[in-house]
Amino acid sequence: MQDYTKLIAEINELKKEKNAIILAHNYMLPEIFEVADSVGDSFELSKAAQEMECETIVFAGVHFMAEAAKLLNPSKKVLLPSLAAGCFMADTVNAIGLQRLKNKHPNAPVVVYMNTTAAVKALSNSTLTSSNAVKVVESFEEDTLIFAPDKHLCEYVQSQTKKTLIPWQGFCHVHTQLSPQYLKEMKEKYPNSLSIIHPETPERVTKLADHICGTGGMAKYIAQHPDIKTFLIGTEVGMTHRLQAEFPNQEIISLMGSCINMKQITLENIKSSLLNDTYEINIDEKIFDAAQNSMLEMMKRS
Ligand code: 13P
Ligand code: SF4
Repeated sequence: MQDYTKLIAEINELKKEKNAIILAHNYMLPEIFEVADSVGDSFELSKAAQEMECETIVFAGVHFMAEAAKLLNPSKKVLLPSLAAGCFMADTVNAIGLQRLKNKHPNAPVVVYMNTTAAVKALSNSTLTSSNAVKVVESFEEDTLIFAPDKHLCEYVQSQTKKTLIPWQGFCHVHTQLSPQYLKEMKEKYPNSLSIIHPETPERVTKLADHICGTGGMAKYIAQHPDIKTFLIGTEVGMTHRLQAEFPNQEIISLMGSCINMKQITLENIKSSLLNDTYEINIDEKIFDAAQNSMLEMMKRS
């Protein structure tokens, strides 16, 4: 492994100078955890940002996560080190398309996954994430809701509620790579293992899983099973590195590939971000309040 000692020390110095913190999503490259003030899933990080004293947040994650941090921390400067760090799933829905679907179902409240732009959140009644999706959906009085953009998360939530969900047809190209055949083969190869699969994965796979949860729930599940030696992890491969470091006495095996968006963030561009204030996240004031309300609704309802 490359020696990052000098770069890590420079970043830590710049953090002090700029009164900045670094938030890192679970999928980041392992060396980025060395400079992170908080590591977690997208929702945990947005909440953590609210509790930390600082002037600047450098978000080591993708664009929608940095926008969510800005929505919850309007007075802080939020920086995303690379504008190439988008999200394939978030790009499957835009405000014009969602407005069209809303027009077809005028009485249905709209819930949207964290993986959406601020403009899409602004058209919704509440945001949700994988750990609180069922609770948020159940909190509405109405029986029918529009759910965007992930059709697989929607499928999973639909299996847990009597409400009727109208899905947007979005998906993540990383989580849809996993086939039921491969999961079966791996379970045969490791007969005493437990499999944990992210709900962005299609139902034909999750129905074979021992446990379904977002990245935030995976460590908790492993900690509850100290006697199990092997875990099969069905989410972006970076999560496996993080879990293996946390559970060195258990074998953590990845079932998925890499998210190219997440891998745009490097120690080099984090340093440059701190030096040059790149790239600042600004949200159009016409949509800011509505998008922020959607995030605050999630917090109230979950
Ligand atoms: P989490 O909210 O579980 O971190 O998931 C975000 C994501 O983009 C998963 O692909
Ligand atoms: Fe988006 Fe999929 Fe990458 Fe998560 S893994 S950031 S949903 S493209």
